[in-house]
Amino acid sequence: PLATLTAILMSSPSFAEPTYGFSQIGSESGWRTSETNSIKAEAERRGIDLKFSDAQQKQENQIKAVRSFIAQGVDGILLAPVVESGWDQVLREADRADIPVVLIDRGVDADPSLYLTKVASDFKEEGALAGSWLAAETNGNCDIVELQGTVGSSAAIDRKSGFDALIGNFPNMKIIRSQSGDFTRAGGKEVMESFLKAEGGGDSICAVFAHNDDMALGAIQAIKEAQLDPADDILVVSIDAVPDIFKAMADGDANATIELNPHLGGPAFDAIAAHNDGEDVPKWIKANGPLYLPDTAAAEYEARK
Ligand code: AHR
Repeated sequence: PLATLTAILMSSPSFAEPTYGFSQIGSESGWRTSETNSIKAEAERRGIDLKFSDAQQKQENQIKAVRSFIAQGVDGILLAPVVESGWDQVLREADRADIPVVLIDRGVDADPSLYLTKVASDFKEEGALAGSWLAAETNGNCDIVELQGTVGSSAAIDRKSGFDALIGNFPNMKIIRSQSGDFTRAGGKEVMESFLKAEGGGDSICAVFAHNDDMALGAIQAIKEAQLDPADDILVVSIDAVPDIFKAMADGDANATIELNPHLGGPAFDAIAAHNDGEDVPKWIKANGPLYLPDTAAAEYEARK
């Protein structure tokens, strides 16, 4: 009778393992892959059945995935939105189905009442931190090239605006070229090659500000191929703190990175649980990280690789 009772209890909705959907952007960068692995591992640790969908950088795939999660009646949805706009309709559909949506890592420009919360870093602060490091390093004198992230993504829009606002305080700091490298290593290399060509070999470029480490790593390769010394002839500052950028810093090829925490699953699952228990959840759960310099790079690489 005890076994029968246990079986009945386990099959009742309140005892069944929760099912969540996770619509991920893709695997454009080392950071993105860490984030995916971390969220999957956290779900497993908590006994959550996580339905994972890789959108391969396409918003339409994400919208389809969210609709399919709604149709399957999941208990919650994690959405890492590739771009900022165009989410209102599908978020309204989730809202009508009473399924809480947590935005992961990036933001949207939709009505905040349509999602439960956003678990993300403040990208403007990251851009400003990169700018202030560069201002201090160059005494406020620097012609900068910028490698932007995916066009229309909150990460690219806000990192740019935070950086622009900061360097706006320094009359002799300016962005001389700026283009998207789509957050990929190949994109960063290709765009940096074009910047170097356009700037007559690169002598006039003081620094590259890359919206992520992968693009910085591509740019470092391009700088080397142009017979210049990255981190010396051209300063390199970027965001994410992936192991490879620590290796580059330890090797003297990069100057600074700002950490973007990839472990966003825990706070996202906690937020849904708190909401289900009737607790208030803040609209933005911030996860900002520090700036790292070459002095600790070798140790950080060993610890993270
Ligand atoms: O949205 C965060 C950005 O997206 C990370 O900085 C980048 O590496 C990723 O692809």
